[in-house]
Amino acid sequence: MSEASRVSVLFVCLGNICRSPTAEGVFRRKVQEAGLEARVHVDSAGTGDWHVGRPPDARMMEAASRRGLDLSMLRARQVTRDDFDAFDVVVAMDATNLEDLEALAPGRAVRMLDFAPHLPERDVPDPYYGGGEGFERVLDLIEVAAEGLLDEVKRRLRAS
Ligand code: 4NP
Repeated sequence: MSEASRVSVLFVCLGNICRSPTAEGVFRRKVQEAGLEARVHVDSAGTGDWHVGRPPDARMMEAASRRGLDLSMLRARQVTRDDFDAFDVVVAMDATNLEDLEALAPGRAVRMLDFAPHLPERDVPDPYYGGGEGFERVLDLIEVAAEGLLDEVKRRLRAS
């Protein structure tokens, strides 16, 4: 078994303006803290196309910035079938995102909270139509799951 030199991770939600850009920002920071930025590529996309080209939702950016995360440079894009060739790990935020990804590439995507099996939730809930606490919850869940995902990526870098 040879060692993987690089691992790429794509986070996917519905609009690519709330949950998946947050996961991209949180996970990229963890990768940098681990000194692995040269070996781990991180991106995000949405299953829908309504917000393509737009920055993240202002409420999400505000909540993220309170935790020291700047998401302002990110721009929404739609996921494509080619992403499954380009990315090693494709991570859905909820069951609906997973279903939509299954239609593109059966058996390829995983769920974000699979990396936090000790939590009771299985979905990172869509915060778009809710109140401010929804954005905090998104950050809380993603921060926990990002730890588990980093462990998985480190395993892949050690032996693949
Ligand atoms: P996201 O949130 O999937 O976490 O980016 C949403 C953003 C936009 C919409 C729904 C969810 N929308 O219906 O436009």
